[in-house]
Amino acid sequence: MLAIVLVGGEGTRMRPLSAETPKHLMPIVHRPLLEQLLDHLRMHGVDRVRLALRRPGEAIEAAVGDGSRLGLRVDYTYEDEPLGSGGAIAHAAAGWDEPFLVCNGDIITDLDVTALVEAHRARGAELSLSLHEVDDPSPFGVVVLDAGGRITRFVEKPPRAEAPSRLINAGTWLFEPGLLREMDGSRFNRVEDGLFPRLAAEGRAIVGFRSDAYWIDVGRPESLLRANLDRVDAETAVAPGASVAPTARVELPAVVGAGSTLEAGAAVSRSLLWERVTVGAGAVVRDSVLATGVIVGAGAVVERSVIAHGAVIAAGAWLVDEAIEPRAYVAPAAAVR
Ligand code: GTP
Repeated sequence: MLAIVLVGGEGTRMRPLSAETPKHLMPIVHRPLLEQLLDHLRMHGVDRVRLALRRPGEAIEAAVGDGSRLGLRVDYTYEDEPLGSGGAIAHAAAGWDEPFLVCNGDIITDLDVTALVEAHRARGAELSLSLHEVDDPSPFGVVVLDAGGRITRFVEKPPRAEAPSRLINAGTWLFEPGLLREMDGSRFNRVEDGLFPRLAAEGRAIVGFRSDAYWIDVGRPESLLRANLDRVDAETAVAPGASVAPTARVELPAVVGAGSTLEAGAAVSRSLLWERVTVGAGAVVRDSVLATGVIVGAGAVVERSVIAHGAVIAAGAWLVDEAIEPRAYVAPAAAVR
């Protein structure tokens, strides 16, 4: 089966972490998010994937290559301008004449894609969308279903009190190729506010596939941390090649990446440390994300903060609720909010 994975977004909500690493290559328990998504697709019968990218996005192509390492055939399309989901799909799928999956590239899910494909065929759907129920649908695209499971309405990011349901568009879609005739790959457009609501309004066979499988949209540093803490266990918490002093503590759940060093008496809890992070003697890191190469000096405290690549937190500094840019230096007297 064919799939398109959309990986050409800006990743603005993931700043400052996305300044140097596209969010699709950020680690989920030591492996790039996109590799986990591709593994999941392969397990459900996908054999060819087209990654829809925007320049500069070459880091993703360099990381995934031709896909053979993942048991897939992977190729790439590049957009010179952002095309949005609708433009990107039409551009990437030009000329395809068989059904294809489309996935947002920043989602970690255990969705039963095989069951979605079967339900799509059984219903004779033109388009199927995976749906996930959430407590607060206000940051998402909300859908309304009729009794037969057909989607009758879309409401994009409604205020919480006005949301017509708690079911959201979960970012895995199955398209019949005929829909491509109604799509435009030459200009920016989003299926979420163009094709999807139009098909629903026309009463077309656009079907919701409800699932309570694990699902998380890894759009922000907090959800990157959440996804890691949800997936990690005692075996995987500390990567091989990380060095934890005998008196340092890693309180689970937490993730300590390869090449990281926790010096004597350091304590890390509910945090994600990418690769080659140093936590100095007696320093404390809680509820935080520390990107590759971050150095936390001895006795410093880092709490509920996001620290981008190579930043240095001086010995004795206190950092609470901060976002630190790549390679910044935080002096000991840094304010505590
Ligand atoms: P924010 O800037 O933080 O909103 O992130 P984003 O640009 O990644 O947007 P969003 O999270 O809504 O995107 C969902 C998925 O679609 C992500 O995997 C994006 O990389 C991808 N995506 C978003 N816009 C485009 C686009 O114009 N072209 C392509 N090819 N992919 C896109």
